[in-house]
Amino acid sequence: MSVKGMADILPEESWKWEKIRSLFLENARRFGYKLIETPIVEHADLFIRGIGDGTDIVDKQMYLFNDKKGKHLALRPEGTASAVRSFVEHKYNSELLHKWCYFGPMYRYERPQKGRMRQFHQAGIEAFGVDDPALDAEQIILARELLVGSFGIESVKILLNSIGCPACRPGWQVALVDYFRRYDRELCDNCRRRLDINPLRILDCKVQRCSEIAKDAPAGRNYLCGSCSAHHNKLKQYLSDMNIVFEDDPMLVRGLDYYTKTVFEITTDKLGSQSALIAGGRYNDLVKSLGGKDSPATGWAMGIERIFLLSDIKNASEKTVYFIALDEPSKIVLFKLFASAAKRRNCRFDYKGGSLKSQLRRANGAGAQICAIMGENERIADTLLIKDMKNKTQKLIKIDEFGETL
Ligand code: HAM
Repeated sequence: MSVKGMADILPEESWKWEKIRSLFLENARRFGYKLIETPIVEHADLFIRGIGDGTDIVDKQMYLFNDKKGKHLALRPEGTASAVRSFVEHKYNSELLHKWCYFGPMYRYERPQKGRMRQFHQAGIEAFGVDDPALDAEQIILARELLVGSFGIESVKILLNSIGCPACRPGWQVALVDYFRRYDRELCDNCRRRLDINPLRILDCKVQRCSEIAKDAPAGRNYLCGSCSAHHNKLKQYLSDMNIVFEDDPMLVRGLDYYTKTVFEITTDKLGSQSALIAGGRYNDLVKSLGGKDSPATGWAMGIERIFLLSDIKNASEKTVYFIALDEPSKIVLFKLFASAAKRRNCRFDYKGGSLKSQLRRANGAGAQICAIMGENERIADTLLIKDMKNKTQKLIKIDEFGETL
């Protein structure tokens, strides 16, 4: 049995996985994002400092272990902190724009359900060095284009908010604490703790009573400073200019602590409670807080398992030619033809042999469109029987015409 919440990607479905990955990379590259690969294992401290104490990921969901020298390590629960660690470690110039993308497994100890795994995969983009709402807009446009244009997922909803910056967020936090204190006894244990550590997280609590109370909490929008407010308004303008429909949701917060200004989620109603397909936002202070120079940054990540469940991409594979030999001497001749044809196209050789009927059955099972058949009669006459599996037609051809027939 595989580990709970961790799944195989089986050969029958891996084409879809590959296709999602290549469509993501193709689109990201077109927008200038270059692939970065970082290790799956990092120092646990990176995520504790990056994502934040008091978040579910850090408090409850990390896969932690000590190596043989006692180093405290973690399986990465997300890609942003790792990308920032790499950006800082390799001393990228924070005055310039850097655009990176990644695709790989992440690990969170959550209760598995449809669309929520303990090993899951994210495709993500991160851009460093620019604090321009047009860049936020670009990333949302790319996200939407992938979901709708490439993966054929209709009816997605874009939720957008600004959660301010260290200059203006404390005002909102004080107002939230004031408000939630009034409901002290009704909040869940977690939220009561959050009141002291991070009141914004209460807005994201899934416990029914907490979310009812949160509905009337003070909206962050009223506390934004001039710069955050202008950033948010310009972002909305860029999106509207591109006819991108979004919902400006003043209660949207994220489960990770590093965000500043823009936060967004693109959701679907097709996956029950696991509705977020892509989520992200701006994190202008993270590079500095992880030891780098001040460098604004913004990005998002997409849950590949969720895309896999919803996407209607088709497997447009090329025709398969299936080689059937009916006796041993024919097998020797036919195998040579197979081995050279397989260098250029999709070919299968029937190694099990046996009757024509059983080999044709296997050809069908392999999804072959064409069979190249050789028995004693064909071999003696230097010919091959070519059978079209769809039209049920067949014709005899000379062996040296085989290349053209394909
Ligand atoms: P996140 O919201 O934690 O953000 O995850 C992003 C996406 O990953 C989710 O919207 C969802 O599609 C997928 N996801 C998360 N957890 C699971 C799970 N257990 N099983 C399946 N899919 C899951 C981040 O991770 C940020 N690093 C995003 C970001 C990048 N922000 C800025 N740059």
